[in-house]
Amino acid sequence: MSEFRVFFRAIMLIPDLYFFMQCSMALDKMQDLSLKPVLRADLGEMEGIPLTQPICSTWDQVWKFKARPDDLLIATYAKAGTTWTQEIVDMIQQNGDVEKCRRDTTYRRHPFLEWYLPESSGAGYSGLELAEAMPSPRTMKTHLPVQLVPPSFWEQNCKVIYVARNAKDNLVSYYHFHRMNKGLPDPGTWEEFMDKFMAGKVLWGSWYDHVKGWWKAKDKHRILYLFYEDMKENPKREIQKILKFLEKDANQEILNKILHHTSFEMMKENPMANYTKELQDIMDHSVSPFMRKGVVGDWKNHFTVAQNQKFDEDYKKKMADTSLVFRMEL
Ligand SMILES: *[C@@H]1O[C@H](CO)[C@@H](O)[C@H](O)[C@H]1NC(C)=O
Repeated sequence: MSEFRVFFRAIMLIPDLYFFMQCSMALDKMQDLSLKPVLRADLGEMEGIPLTQPICSTWDQVWKFKARPDDLLIATYAKAGTTWTQEIVDMIQQNGDVEKCRRDTTYRRHPFLEWYLPESSGAGYSGLELAEAMPSPRTMKTHLPVQLVPPSFWEQNCKVIYVARNAKDNLVSYYHFHRMNKGLPDPGTWEEFMDKFMAGKVLWGSWYDHVKGWWKAKDKHRILYLFYEDMKENPKREIQKILKFLEKDANQEILNKILHHTSFEMMKENPMANYTKELQDIMDHSVSPFMRKGVVGDWKNHFTVAQNQKFDEDYKKKMADTSLVFRMEL
């Protein structure tokens, strides 16, 4: 074979080689996907509320959940102080015994009622199964809007602690949470996420409807409605409200222990509460830690003047039909 022919054949093979490399790369990616959780999936919808596909696929069971009269439900819109409230409640229930509160992660101490991740995701979780296996009295967590709470909670006259956080800080926190949590839809840019939040096209639906719906429900049911801003301003006062609601007592020493153990600084370093022991393939704390800042008014570091104006105008309309008032700063 002449040198020219060898050269010519080699040139002809390059596209084949290139095509082969692309195929094997695509195959690699496919294999990768089958092993790892399906990340950044789109949301489904239940009664008009965007929920994850796994929650939608198990919705019948969530709806039929059998609450018991001594169940306690901690309900919030996501990123409104849920984990914080869960730790306070657990400390109250354990009479200030920090060791008992370390018995497991927040994620497993209090079943996250509607949350479901199939085993195939590599991070299997069923809030329903956890709850059903748990002896009474149970404390559970939910982010469901009030109309989607399983009816047995109302039939059994269960107590509910609801925590609401002002829309702007809640939005900022939810944005950073979407960035670090690859199990959630891609937030897009800050501006894009703000639009989705305002339109209620985010997981667990409209913040506006959520806080208003629960606010209305508190007149009919045993609901303690708390505000994140009040908890930041005077945690002792708010813990005392929770104690009273739970018909519990705590002496000064226990109260101080609860205050100390549930401060932001302590919770950020608490491996049982800071979500570093759970969902390790899904949450990336190097993008934004689960316990990020825990302050009131951080929205000022995110909103432009124009964005703030647009948000305020829309807010006024959406909140015109409620007596609910939030503090955006302390
Ligand atoms: C979580 O807690 C552990 C243990 O104290 C600590 O080392 C880690 O820095 C915390 N992680 C985050 C992301 O806050």
